[in-house]
Amino acid sequence: MQHKREVEDVIEKKVYETYYTIVEPFKPVRSVKGIVEQLREKFKLIVSEKLVALVVSAFLTGRPVLFEGPPGTGKTEVGYGILTLWAGKKAFILPCSENYDEYRVIGDFHPLMAMKMGFTEESFVPRPLLAALILDAGVLVDEIRRSSLRRVFKAKGEGFQVIFTSNPEDIAQGELSDAFLRRVVRIKFTYPPEEVEKEIAKLRLGEDFKMITEDSISKVLAVVNELRNKALHKPGPADTVAWTQMATGLAKLRGKKKADLKDFYDAAFSVLLKRSEDEDLVYSIVEKYFKR
Ligand SMILES: Nc1ncnc2c1ncn2[C@@H]1O[C@H](COP(=O)(O)OP(=O)(O)O)[C@@H](O)[C@H]1O
Ligand SMILES: [Mg+2]
Repeated sequence: MQHKREVEDVIEKKVYETYYTIVEPFKPVRSVKGIVEQLREKFKLIVSEKLVALVVSAFLTGRPVLFEGPPGTGKTEVGYGILTLWAGKKAFILPCSENYDEYRVIGDFHPLMAMKMGFTEESFVPRPLLAALILDAGVLVDEIRRSSLRRVFKAKGEGFQVIFTSNPEDIAQGELSDAFLRRVVRIKFTYPPEEVEKEIAKLRLGEDFKMITEDSISKVLAVVNELRNKALHKPGPADTVAWTQMATGLAKLRGKKKADLKDFYDAAFSVLLKRSEDEDLVYSIVEKYFKR
């Protein structure tokens, strides 16, 4: 085992054995500027100082954070990145779903072992939330409204901080109570300004960004913007990135140095068309800009 501390407790020991190598400890990053820099370098994320300062301030005052906003605006990745840098350990992600309850996240008894040895520490299986507490790592409770989890877990150690994410416009999801909302620091995620969205695409595509002309990227952003105003499924920066990556990918396969109108056109529908009700709209908007 690699950890320095001698662990006596059975459950703590299990946690160290199962999870310690997964969190890959490194030196924590606790300054706002440092976090912004590392988010860009390590996680390829563009995040404002203002947002990071709010999160850090919440952490320092022991409050959990709630990221709210539409899909593809970076809630999950930004949350994971900040928690990881802050703790100096990879954060735990709890991907919520309908059947996600507290047993699933804290721990439960192994049925066969419990039959043999009884309901003891030996037969207890620690889950990620308990592991994060013991290892002092961060926890991202992703899409909280999809689960029945509603407890506001309070920060205990320094590294153990909690970020929830939620899309308030998703009517298929459950509501968050006033009591829950009062206890968290709410931070809104919105679609970035054009300049920032272009920066995001540039950062994500790396060298391949050179395959895209100024004219094409402006058109991509125009399409995406129009869809945000008119379509049921609104594309996020995640879709902008996916579309540009697919278009440059197609261009390479076709032996081209630059992605042209056809590449963008052919890649568009596989990325932008997520709901059949939007079909006509997506075709007409994409054709308006990328008709060959
Ligand atoms: N601020 C950002 N910086 C870099 N990439 C971003 C940013 N916002 C969104 N993205 C893109 O979106 C993806 C992350 O979206 P995600 O965290 O899943 O969004 P959400 O959780 O809000 O649905 C990234 O892989 C990247 O392509
Ligand atoms: Mg998400």
